[in-house]
Amino acid sequence: MNQTIDDQSLERAYSAVSDTYKGAGDIHAACRLARSESPIYIGDFVKQFGVPTNAGLQQGTRPTFALFRHQDIMAVLRDATNYTSGFIAEGLGAFFDGLIVLAMDGEQHRKVRALLQPAFMPETVNKWRDPIDNVIRKDFLEKMIPLKKADLMEFGLGVPIRVMYALLGFPTDNKEKYRQYAAWALAMVGGNQVDKERFEEARRSAGVAVARLYEVIHEVVVQRRAQGSQGDDVIGRLLRAEHEGRMLDDHEVTTFVRSLLPASGETTTRTFSSVMTLLLTTPGLIDRVRADRSLVPKLIDETVRYEPVATFKIRETAKEVAFHGVTIPKGSFIQCMVVSANRDEEVFEHPDVFDIDRRTKLSFGFGFGPHMCIGQFVAKLELNCAINAILDLLPNLRLDPDHPVPVIEGAQLRGAPHIHVLWD
Ligand code: HEM
Repeated sequence: MNQTIDDQSLERAYSAVSDTYKGAGDIHAACRLARSESPIYIGDFVKQFGVPTNAGLQQGTRPTFALFRHQDIMAVLRDATNYTSGFIAEGLGAFFDGLIVLAMDGEQHRKVRALLQPAFMPETVNKWRDPIDNVIRKDFLEKMIPLKKADLMEFGLGVPIRVMYALLGFPTDNKEKYRQYAAWALAMVGGNQVDKERFEEARRSAGVAVARLYEVIHEVVVQRRAQGSQGDDVIGRLLRAEHEGRMLDDHEVTTFVRSLLPASGETTTRTFSSVMTLLLTTPGLIDRVRADRSLVPKLIDETVRYEPVATFKIRETAKEVAFHGVTIPKGSFIQCMVVSANRDEEVFEHPDVFDIDRRTKLSFGFGFGPHMCIGQFVAKLELNCAINAILDLLPNLRLDPDHPVPVIEGAQLRGAPHIHVLWD
């Protein structure tokens, strides 16, 4: 394949990431068995699925364990002092000059989180409801109405990017270029490979993508500073923020913004694919939700429990700990099987049933503890607007019988690749 990183389409970049993180095997079945037979796995549980982890190159270099139960996953994720994330800076984080929030620990993480958090709180995010709704309806769905059929994933790929770049504070006249930027962001994620042969090429592409993104973001940052650093968006806020007693320089703002990109678009796209798949394949559900829109938030929450995008999170032990009588040495990796905790029979009744009426209980699809997803309100708002607009504008939406029924797949990142639908 001699296609360059610069003319890679967004669709191709997304599929490449899906292929990389798809792996093989039934992760739900493997976790169900582990929960019932042994709540701790000694060794690299995830390896059997053949997917890369954010331990990157360090995978296989130190003792590794996996946990499956709700209470164990909660205990690890909530305690960022004893279960750290800094190792990510040497894996996937190497593409971000180490300045990736996900890979920060302790005081550094607290400070950076405090800087970023206000831009993502519901008070700020909710102001975006009308503009988001407008973009979804006018720029996407109204153009689709006469077609009477589509793969909903074309919509699902485009919307989060448009919303995210607006929230970041990119100029709106750049919007055609957003798909290119998003493809670069995906190339960074795809830089993590298990296959040694693909590794070098993927790393090279990721390196180029990181540099390209730096250039475009830096240009916007410099421009925004020259215009007076105004605005409620992320770039505006970062330009005015104080960090460790001083203002952030252009390089720091650029690097922070760049580190947000891989976390924001693709996760929302994949969640969209799972929500729509479950909505369209669960008997009677779409009619209920169409008639009662107060069910939309429940639909989203139950999807994030039932099919979390990322099936596991990894942490490193900062001291010796013990679970279920097994001693885990300091410096070990713990694979926290979120996909298992979200279906733990001890917490959820009939956990393998997709039931939007279930009583809300803590699940971990947006993480938990200090690293819990900073963008969850953005993601939920976007999904809410998208689902409502689809139900409003595409009458009698149903699966297209000429295409296979969509299936949610993937051992590391889950989602449905295509959702072919018809409407009247
Ligand atoms: C449905 C969509 C999304 C899902 C399922 C999701 C999931 C997650 C999860 C599970 C984590 C925790 C990672 C860990 O503990 O290691 C996380 C962290 C994060 N997410 Fe999201 N995310 C979504 C959308 C977004 C959006 C729209 C943004 C936009 C800014 C975003 C930005 C972040 C950031 C910056 C972090 C790191 C936070 C930290 O380390 O303190 N995410 N996300």
